Amino acid sequence: DEIDIRTLGSKGLFTFDPGFTSTASCESKITYIDGDEGILLHRGFPIDQLAKESNFLEVSYLLLYGEVPTQKQYDDFRKIVERHTMVHEQITRLFHGFRRDSHPMAVLCGVTGALAAFYHDSIDVENERHREIAAYRLLSKMPTVAAMCYKYSIGQPFVYPRNELSYAGNFLHMMFATPCEEYIVNPVLERAMDRILILHADHEQNASTSTVRTAGSSGANPFACIAAGIASLWGPAHGGANEAALKMLEEISSVEHIPGFIKRAKDKNDSFRLMGFGHRVYKNYDPRATVMRDTCHEVLKELDLKDNNLLEVAMELEHIALNDPYFIEKKLYPNVDFYSGIILKAMGIPSSMFTVIFAMARTVGWIAHWNEMHQDGIKIARPRQLYTGYDKRDFHSQLKK
Ligand code: ACO
Repeated sequence: DEIDIRTLGSKGLFTFDPGFTSTASCESKITYIDGDEGILLHRGFPIDQLAKESNFLEVSYLLLYGEVPTQKQYDDFRKIVERHTMVHEQITRLFHGFRRDSHPMAVLCGVTGALAAFYHDSIDVENERHREIAAYRLLSKMPTVAAMCYKYSIGQPFVYPRNELSYAGNFLHMMFATPCEEYIVNPVLERAMDRILILHADHEQNASTSTVRTAGSSGANPFACIAAGIASLWGPAHGGANEAALKMLEEISSVEHIPGFIKRAKDKNDSFRLMGFGHRVYKNYDPRATVMRDTCHEVLKELDLKDNNLLEVAMELEHIALNDPYFIEKKLYPNVDFYSGIILKAMGIPSSMFTVIFAMARTVGWIAHWNEMHQDGIKIARPRQLYTGYDKRDFHSQLKK
């Protein structure tokens, strides 16, 4: 009776760090972030350079293998990614089990998890070559599955991949082509989509990546691990923020309404937050947001939407917030999600697909981390807890007479 039950079974000291604000869960060579300086490097290369001078497949190779590919390595990689773009025809039947009005993230999560059933026996996660093939399959099939989620939601037939197109171009084709009409990929929109994919490709130990690592640490099937990552990404505090940010900008609708929303964001009795603002790690401008803002201007110019009212609201909101003592003191800056919604909306993509596109882009980051974890030798993730429940008590004395 004298024993403090919280110490039972524990050996030595452990830290209590809810939300992992200051606890590293792993070592990694993939991505470096300096949140105070607003620096993001993939394998040592600055994100703005990669976004402007590379393409998504090249960045994917870099994340997976650690080096920029030679031309031959890139061509071989591209060919192998192209080879796996189709999904099993049975997958199309799986879609029909979902309600037509399901959220595309629910469908993406379910279908990606179901891929585990198609590649269950063929994957030995300890085998490097098997892990590599799983990575190719995921990278290749994600745009196909993502576009299928959209087509299913609007009641149109699925469009098969066209491998001669770029990764981003192929995705746009599968989204917008119909049996009645070919979709001619606009190079400015294709480039913008490619940049969105690069900017979302990896971001070290965010909630979804940590989830993938945690799930994978038990030796679980990679498709199932990625489905777990998709579930984690869906929340509005994480990947769901791009959908929420656009909704907020639409609600604000005009610059004269901004002060009212700023006031609400500062009010501690109001749960409202400026969506697309603030970050656990960045206490400076998110370097991805800068590229996203430039891309937003390029897309709106191309589509002749320069007077876009949402962009006007976003820029004014950013200006007011960055000069407000509350946001200055708390170091709250626009994050990657602040401008991405405007771009995607201008491209004709519905907001329910925004987080699906984020998941499609982040898949390569997830799988790179999953692979790195296996390379380094896995230790099952098993956080401790601080028990705050009852002390030991007698069940017998509680039995109903
Ligand atoms: N608007 C208003 N106030 C905010 C905001 C915001 N967007 N973000 C943080 N704050 C305030 C909090 O109220 C808190 O104030 P307090 O110290 O007086 O209590 C303080 O800033 C710190 O905020 P925390 O929530 O403790 O910071 P945390 O690091 O846990 O959260 C998060 C980061 C979740 C991203 C938060 O800034 C947020 O909710 N932002 C809006 C959602 C969003 O844009 N998410 C996308 C993140 S990027 C990504 O996932 C790709």
